[in-house]
Amino acid sequence: MRAIVCHRHGGPEVMQYEELPRPRPAAGQMLIEAEAIGVNYVDLMRSSGRHPTAPEPPFTPGIETCGRVAETGADVKRFRTGERVIGRCVTHGAYAECVLVEERFTVSCPEMLPAEVGAALFVNGQTAWHALITMGQVQPGETVLITAAAGGVGTCAVQIAKILGAKVMAAAGSEEKLRLAENLGADALVNYTRDEWPQRVLNVTDGRGAELILESVGGAIAAQSLGCWAPGGRMVIFGKASGEPAVITGDSLLFGNRSVRGLAVGMVIENEELMRRAMSELLAWVADGRLTLQIGGRYPLANAADAHRDLKARKTQGKLVLLP
Ligand SMILES: NC(=O)c1ccc[n+]([C@@H]2O[C@H](COP(=O)([O-])OP(=O)(O)OC[C@H]3O[C@@H](n4cnc5c(N)ncnc54)[C@H](OP(=O)(O)O)[C@@H]3O)[C@@H](O)[C@H]2O)c1
Repeated sequence: MRAIVCHRHGGPEVMQYEELPRPRPAAGQMLIEAEAIGVNYVDLMRSSGRHPTAPEPPFTPGIETCGRVAETGADVKRFRTGERVIGRCVTHGAYAECVLVEERFTVSCPEMLPAEVGAALFVNGQTAWHALITMGQVQPGETVLITAAAGGVGTCAVQIAKILGAKVMAAAGSEEKLRLAENLGADALVNYTRDEWPQRVLNVTDGRGAELILESVGGAIAAQSLGCWAPGGRMVIFGKASGEPAVITGDSLLFGNRSVRGLAVGMVIENEELMRRAMSELLAWVADGRLTLQIGGRYPLANAADAHRDLKARKTQGKLVLLP
C-alpha cells in the first residue's frame, strides 16, 4: 500500500510518499481501507516533533480516516469486514491507503455520508463538542468567543454553539474567514489581527465580555482575550496554533471568579461511552442538516505535504482532506 512516511521530524518537506507493507490487525484492531483521510493541525505539530506525543521516526502521520473494514483482529465485536466506518488512530498512521484503528475509537459511518465528511467529523466534531459541553458547560444565552472560528474545529464549534442556544462571537485572522463564520450562524465577528479586538468584544456584549472562551491559538491572542472575559467566565484551552502557550495569570481568575480547563480529546475519548454519545449526537446533527462539515480543500494523498503547507500558512478554511 502507498503511505506518507516521515523519516525525521520537520516541516512538510520531510513527508515522503512510499510503498509500505499492508499491516495486519492485532486483537481489538481493524484494518480500514481509506476513502478519505482527515488533516488536523496536530498532525503538523507531531510531524515537526513539537508535540508531547510526537512519534519517533520513521512514522506515518495522521489520526483520522473514513473507509471500509478490510480485516478484523481477534475480539472485534462491533464491526464486520465490508462495513463503512470512521476511525481515529491514537497518535499517527492515517495518511495511508490502509490503516489500523482500534475498535474502541471507531464508529459506523452511514452509507449516505460522503467519505470526506466522514473523515472530517471525528476529531473536529469531538473537539468542538467536548470544548463546549464536557469542559465548557455552555448555557443557552451565553456569549462564546471562538478563536480560529473558520478552521476545522472552529467551523464545527460555531455551529454547535448555535445549536446549543449560545451567542457566538467568532474570532479569526481575516475578513474572508469571518464571512464563513457569519454564514455558519455567528452573531458577531472580530478580526484578532487588529489590536483593539478585545474592545470590540466588550462593545457587543454591553461591556461584559464573553462567558466562555474556546482558546486554541495561545500567545498574544490568549493574553489579549483576558481583556474581554466576563466575570464568572470559563475558558477551555485546547490548542496553541501560534506555537506559544496561553499564559493565564492567577489574578485574572481570582479577581472575577473565572476558571480555566484544558482539553485533550485523546484522553476524553478513553471514556468510550462518552465518545459514542458525542459521535451519535454529531452524526444526528449532520443528518438533520444542523451541522454542515466545511470541506476547505481536497488533496491527493501523495500531496499531503501541500495540505500541511497551506494549513501552516493560515491559508485554509474549514477542514482539509486527503484522497487516496
Ligand atoms: N486538544 C485537543 O485534543 C485538540 C484536538 C483537535 C484540535 N486541537 C487544536 O485545535 C486547533 C484547531 O485545529 P484544526 O485542525 O481545526 O486547525 P485549524 O483551526 O483549521 O487551523 C489552525 C488555525 O489557527 C489559526 N492560527 C493562529 N495563529 C496561527 C499561526 N501562527 N500559525 C498557524 N495557524 C494559526 C489560523 O486561523 P486564523 O488565521 O483565523 O487565526 C489557522 O487557520 C489547533 O490549535 C489544534 O492543535 C486540539
